[in-house]
Amino acid sequence: MATATLSTSDILQQFERYVVPNYIRSPIVIERGSGSQVWDTDGNRYLDFFNGWGCNLLGHCPPTIIEAVRDQLETLIHVPNTWHTGPQGSWAELLCERSFGTEGRAFFCNSGAEANEAAIKLTRLHAKDGRYKIITFEGGFHGRTLATTAASAQPKFHAGLGPLVAGFVYAPFGDLDAVVHRIDDQTAAIMIEPVQGEGGVRVPPDGFLAGLRQLADQHGLLLIFDEVQTGCGRTGEWFGYQHFQVTPDILTLAKALCGGLAGAAMITTAAIAPSLRPGMHASTFGGNSIAARAGIAMIETIERDGLLNRAKQLSAAFRKHLTPLAQELDIVDQLRICGLMIGLELKIDAKPVVAECVRHGLLINCTQGTVLRLLPAMTLSDDELAEGCEILAEVLRKYQVEQISSSIA
Ligand SMILES: Cc1ncc(COP(=O)(O)O)c(C=O)c1O
Repeated sequence: MATATLSTSDILQQFERYVVPNYIRSPIVIERGSGSQVWDTDGNRYLDFFNGWGCNLLGHCPPTIIEAVRDQLETLIHVPNTWHTGPQGSWAELLCERSFGTEGRAFFCNSGAEANEAAIKLTRLHAKDGRYKIITFEGGFHGRTLATTAASAQPKFHAGLGPLVAGFVYAPFGDLDAVVHRIDDQTAAIMIEPVQGEGGVRVPPDGFLAGLRQLADQHGLLLIFDEVQTGCGRTGEWFGYQHFQVTPDILTLAKALCGGLAGAAMITTAAIAPSLRPGMHASTFGGNSIAARAGIAMIETIERDGLLNRAKQLSAAFRKHLTPLAQELDIVDQLRICGLMIGLELKIDAKPVVAECVRHGLLINCTQGTVLRLLPAMTLSDDELAEGCEILAEVLRKYQVEQISSSIA
């Protein structure tokens, strides 16, 4: 049956009957989106401050992405990586120019987990003397394939999946001494998100990433930055690591890379790249012409419209709105902001707060049980920002009052 003829409850029933229930979904069917707004099948409008789990950094349906993809659809959709294509080469050049320069080499795939898998395989192939271990960090998140699940040092993601892929050693986020003690003669790499996203928008302590770089250099390890969430301008710089003046050996990107379409990349250096020898790794759709044209349009749009600066301005505006709120409300433990990654750690369960925001027309996310996470678009308007922050304040004040009432009762 064509979607247009189905009611909201018909679609919910289809999901109930035919879709694997591995996601916790709100009973809302989103029909269309534009910029930072979406509408459901009952005509309700929502402001989206968690734009496509962070993928729609230019907002929903950005015109420049649509135009590039439409043009490419009529030219060539897909040929395998046995051939060269113009869009893939240009995309690689643009990404390398903004990261490792002429030393950069890109491998393309379709999701963040795949980009990290590529990084993990490259690490093992590049390592000498039987080294294979990778140090990752508690609270980190690197994806849902078996290797990236094992790399994500969060036991809740491991339950029932054993035996896990071997070779990941976990250290507390931000603790350099602990990392030193975990390095042995089998260690090959250190892998980290420059700012933990799913872990609750956790910014590393001063000097931590620089310390990891130093340790990696001392011990001959690769430093891998998972920038699936922090990359592509999310933090107001092209890549999160540019805030910390620390350059990795391998960089992974996905989410916002193609302006809302599926696409991912692993970027490394000319010295390391040849270890991923022909035949050792591949991706059928990786670097396809549609993703490549969208990826190019994403970079060009950000530069043409000065959106890295706009992201910084929006970040400052969020800070201005949310800092007094965090100070006013007892239920808010901490506000953490890095560019357009915003986390409000609550002292109460954050899930009902998210549900209440949705009822008020604001889409946000909860992570780690108590953290409200916002990943807004860099195209958000000042009015939309103020409207969303107002809704958030109203909802949080309501929970503050409830908290006080229940403590008195
Ligand atoms: C830092 C990080 N790495 C990897 C992933 C996995 O990306 P994907 O869902 O595209 O596989 C995510 C997804 O949230 C992420 O935030």
